[in-house]
Amino acid sequence: KPTRILVCGGGNGAHTMAATAAALKNVEVNVMTLFADEAQRWTDTLGSDSIEIDVTYNDGNTGILKGKPRIITKDPAQGMDGVNAVFFVVPAFAHQQYFDAIVKHIKPNTIIVGMPGQAGFEFQALKCLGDVASKCAILSLESLPWACRILEFARKVQILGFKDVLGVSLIPGHGEYSLPPLQFVQTILGKKPALKLTQNYIAVNLMAKSIIHPPVLYGKWHNWDGKPLAEAPVFYQGVDDEQADMLSKVSDEVVATAQEIGKQRPDLDMSEVIPILEWYRIYYRDQITDSSNLKSCMVTNKAYNGLLHPMEKTDAGFVPNFKYRYTSEDIPFGLVVMKGIAECVNVKTPAIDSVITWAQGKLGKEYIVGSELKGKDVGTTRAPQAYGFKNLEDLCKML
Ligand code: NAI
Repeated sequence: KPTRILVCGGGNGAHTMAATAAALKNVEVNVMTLFADEAQRWTDTLGSDSIEIDVTYNDGNTGILKGKPRIITKDPAQGMDGVNAVFFVVPAFAHQQYFDAIVKHIKPNTIIVGMPGQAGFEFQALKCLGDVASKCAILSLESLPWACRILEFARKVQILGFKDVLGVSLIPGHGEYSLPPLQFVQTILGKKPALKLTQNYIAVNLMAKSIIHPPVLYGKWHNWDGKPLAEAPVFYQGVDDEQADMLSKVSDEVVATAQEIGKQRPDLDMSEVIPILEWYRIYYRDQITDSSNLKSCMVTNKAYNGLLHPMEKTDAGFVPNFKYRYTSEDIPFGLVVMKGIAECVNVKTPAIDSVITWAQGKLGKEYIVGSELKGKDVGTTRAPQAYGFKNLEDLCKML
């Protein structure tokens, strides 16, 4: 009997996932997109053809893969019919509606995969799925397996590169599977990227890369005089001492949170939560020319060539776009989650608080009041508190 999976979403990643998985022998793919008329447009545009992928492998070789989903639908009953695993392949802001859609149809022994999950995915999954959650496995990939983009909606995508290794957190649950969940996901993804199990999901949430953008934005713009600029400033390679210092302080608070968790629960290995400077030195070793300090690691990092501050063009020049995903996603589905975990173990976070306070003003939201996560919009974030998890014991219940 073939394995059947559901791919949730309709963007670059969902196209790629749908096609790569459907290209495998013995794997059937349902696709569900709830966004506008995307499912209908995808179905009509693809007709009886397969989705085609232009693949560039990491050794420079190229190839073409073809895969045809069984169905592309907006209807959760059809989408969930007979599936062994559900892959969330949409930006984090859209996860809630997919959880709401699948919860009525999900059966025990289903593998749930956030691809990427991003900070707080597990809290949301456990709360939204209710009782059945403990009989499912919940995995969260730290990023998308590929750099990919749609070339022609519904019909053609491009894989520009595969990640070599990808960290995955796993809440195993008590389901029964023919293949262990991690091995199952690896089989669906193929050889690359190699999935690497991380120690526990709390550590993964604290190491989410959403930590980087908000402090840089804060450092750059919190004293901005409001005058438009002649051009968009360079983002990472333009960081100055103040921005690097803010990022460093935010990172220190996250590390302090991990240390406090390790102190209260010595059985939890939090050693993966490391200062951002160390992280740069390890993960971008080959791309950084000067790794003497955090600023130099960012300024001399080739992987960041050409990346600019998100700006809007006006008649008078460029002004910052404070609602870009660097804030609209990295605050409620990033820094606020870390703040929430810190609050669960009573660690003070003055730097994180300053960044969130500034950013929530730009977003027109209220997450923290003073130094406490008690603003009226906490419920729209993925902080543990939004789902009723209030202390370390709550966070550890599902481990
Ligand atoms: P995308 O930008 O292609 O996603 C667009 C899709 O999201 C739409 O097709 C629709 O299905 C859904 N969507 C958009 N607006 C919506 C709304 N208002 N309500 C409900 N659904 C809506 O995203 P992509 O490229 O597939 O990436 C998925 C995730 O992976 C993102 O979090 C992204 O940051 C991350 N990622 C993407 C990489 C890439 O190469 N594309 C690389 C690494 C990470």
